[in-house]
This record gives sequence, C-alpha cells and structure tokens, in this order.
Amino acid sequence: MSNYLQLYAVDKVFHTKTGDIQALSNIHLNIENGEFLSVVGPSGCGKSTIMRIIAGLDKPSNGSVEVNESELKGIADGAAIVFQKDVLLAWRSVLDNVTLPLELKGITWFDRSNHQTNRAKALELLESVGLKGFENKYPHELSGGMRQRVSICRALIQDPKLLLMDEPFGALDALTREQMMYDLLKLSNKYKFTTVFITHSIEEAVFLSDRVIVMSERPGTILKELPIQLTRPRDNHTRSNDIFSENVNEIRDIFQSQGILAEN
Ligand SMILES: Nc1ncnc2c1ncn2[C@@H]1O[C@H](COP(=O)(O)OP(=O)(O)OP(=O)(O)O)[C@@H](O)[C@H]1O
Ligand SMILES: [Mg+2]
Repeated sequence: MSNYLQLYAVDKVFHTKTGDIQALSNIHLNIENGEFLSVVGPSGCGKSTIMRIIAGLDKPSNGSVEVNESELKGIADGAAIVFQKDVLLAWRSVLDNVTLPLELKGITWFDRSNHQTNRAKALELLESVGLKGFENKYPHELSGGMRQRVSICRALIQDPKLLLMDEPFGALDALTREQMMYDLLKLSNKYKFTTVFITHSIEEAVFLSDRVIVMSERPGTILKELPIQLTRPRDNHTRSNDIFSENVNEIRDIFQSQGILAEN
C-alpha cells in the first residue's frame, strides 16, 4: 500500500475565554491508500479534532498535514464526511438528499444527461444499502438506521478517495449497528475508498479495521497503533476468531492500564 495522508507532529490547542485547551499532542499518523483505519479513545480525547484536521476543516496549531506528499491547504479534496447525527435536509426526498453534493458542485438539475446519471448513481447506492423503493420518501419517514444509510450514500456519491466517519453508528441500536458494519464493509470493498472511522466501541474498531489507533485521554496522544491481522471478508465467524478477542483484550488492557477503564 502507498502512503495517502500523513500527520506529522500535530498539536492542537484551542484558545478559549477560560484558557487554553490542548486537545492533541504530537500526533504522528500515516494513512495508507485503501486502508480501513479506526480511532478509539475516551470522550474528549481529540478524536473529532483529528478528523476535522484530516478533512482540512481545522488547522493544527503545530505540525503538518500532507495529502499525497503535498501540504494540505483548505478542505481536503476527495474527502467526504459522515457524522454521528445525520444531517439530511427535511424538505428533500431521499434521492434528492443523496444527489445534493453533486448539485452543490454545480452539476445541476438543468443538465438532463447529468441529471439522469446522478439519479442512476444515487439509486444504485441506495439499492446497495437496502433502500431500494425508498428514494421518494422524506427523512421523517425513515428510521435512524435508514437515515444514516442515506447519509453514507450521500457521502459516496462524491466518489470520495477518503471517507471520514465520526461515530456514524453511535445513535443506532445494537442490531442495526451490526448490519451497518456489514453494509460499510461491502461498500468499502466495492468502491475501494480509504476510511478513517472514529468510534467508542473497541469491538467495532477491531471488527472493521486494518489498523486501530488507540488514544490517551486529553491531550490526545497515540498510545498504540495495532495492526489487525484478521482476514477479509469479515463475517459472522470473525468475532469467534482468537485474533479478534486477543486484539480486543489488548486494547482494553491499554485503557485499563491508563485508568481510562476501571473494573471497580
Ligand atoms: N472548537 C473548540 N473550541 C474549544 N475547545 C474545543 C473545540 N473543539 C474541541 N474542543 C475541546 O477539545 C477536546 C477534544 O474534543 P473532541 O471533540 O475532539 O473530542 P472527542 O474525542 O471527539 O470526544 P467525543 O468522543 O466525546 O466525541 C475537548 O476537551 C473539547 O472540549
Ligand atoms: Mg467526537
């Protein structure tokens, strides 16, 4: 795999009315092309801050961000984001929500050939996440899991090279969450984008990833980069594989040794 994105000695300090808050300290991170990378860490450790820096939505206070060996300036080209809470527009149908990013890029409804291609692409994506037949519904007519699937389709219609996901399944029930993991793996296999996935769930991180980044409490530092040696495709049997439980336990042990997880 070749290097896609690199964070070098990244610090982030927020200057607030009540004083400075150091969110990140000395983050070195390489992300490889096509890799599925997860970031786990306690609440407030700087996970969303890292994601915003990778996306170019925020700048490091110190250090640098490089994409394909050039310094990142402005918003990262080819990156799409899925947030914890879906941000669908209530007055647009499912289909019109999915095609929205293309319209914002100036590919308008007035251009008939693009309109048809965009529509076909949106329908294909919706079908691949089990939403065939829901294209003319409105967000309020969907469940939380369905809305989050629409958000993923809206990110993928941009053909992103990098999909950034900030606890995208956090608000979903356990069963829907599990289904979403399978859907995401299927999509990442089909469209071959690079993924940075932020989660509180150790199991979710190990199940999905090629590599898991384990973070300390604030100021967030990287405690461990753990390569996940599980074969792909990941399926129902993955969780009963010894490597799965070894990796999950290793991450839990790190959090316990840091006092982030305490049994009593
Ligand atoms: N815009 C901001 N201004 C001031 N402080 C901020 C800002 N954004 C984040 N912080 C602070 O930086 C720290 C890291 O925040 P961040 O949102 O990155 O954490 P997180 O790991 O994503 O947490 P969670 O798991 O709860 O989402 C927190 O202490 C937060 O209060
Ligand atoms: Mg966050």
